[in-house]
Amino acid sequence: MIITIDGPAGSGKSTMAKRLARRLGFRFLNTGAMYRAVTLYLLRAGIEVSEREKIQKILPEIHLEFAGENIIMNGEDVSLAIRSQEVEKHVSAVSSLREVRERLVELQREIASCGDYVLEGRDTGTVVFPDAFCKFYLDASVEERAKRRQKELSERGEYHDLDYLKKEIERRDKLDTTREIAPLMKPPDAVVIETTSLSPDEVEERLYQEVMKRRGEL
Ligand code: DC
Repeated sequence: MIITIDGPAGSGKSTMAKRLARRLGFRFLNTGAMYRAVTLYLLRAGIEVSEREKIQKILPEIHLEFAGENIIMNGEDVSLAIRSQEVEKHVSAVSSLREVRERLVELQREIASCGDYVLEGRDTGTVVFPDAFCKFYLDASVEERAKRRQKELSERGEYHDLDYLKKEIERRDKLDTTREIAPLMKPPDAVVIETTSLSPDEVEERLYQEVMKRRGEL
């Protein structure tokens, strides 16, 4: 069974996908981490987003797998490295490339087809699994999402100004929603949850109740 959670940066998708998966006994797939890993690879290799032929050529060299919640790229655990501001800055541009999306969507389908999964990302309910059993779309105000990002960064010892983070989020929202291929959008059949004034426990409860209702277990 497949459950998808899409939404913009900072809407709480990762936290919720993890929590819901744990509660249902499902596995969880963070598709954004895969786009981030490819971005990290290109940055390290000094390849620009405009160098399409080079990108096409090196994509088969990038092997991605998950070990629990960690993402492994060519044998190296890059879970922390993909969270850097440098990757953050370039990931929207990299994820707008057709060749990158085709490869990662194929991999996502391959991974999640063999089990019960909660997937989270931007297009998991629209493109990756349009026939998913249950689709969610999480949203929150830019202000609230910037605050969440600030908190997450400060827990890692990084301080960033709230206005800067708001602008970064707005910039990414714009790129993610206006790109040509698989832009971020609400799947028409998704349950939309506005999380600005909800606690993580409240959001989790809504997701869980919806899945149980659909399974006929309520
Ligand atoms: O969820 P995240 O912030 O880790 O995602 C990083 C970027 O990856 C995001 O700005 C857009 C891209 N992405 C995507 O294009 N499609 C997905 N399914 C997931 C992420």
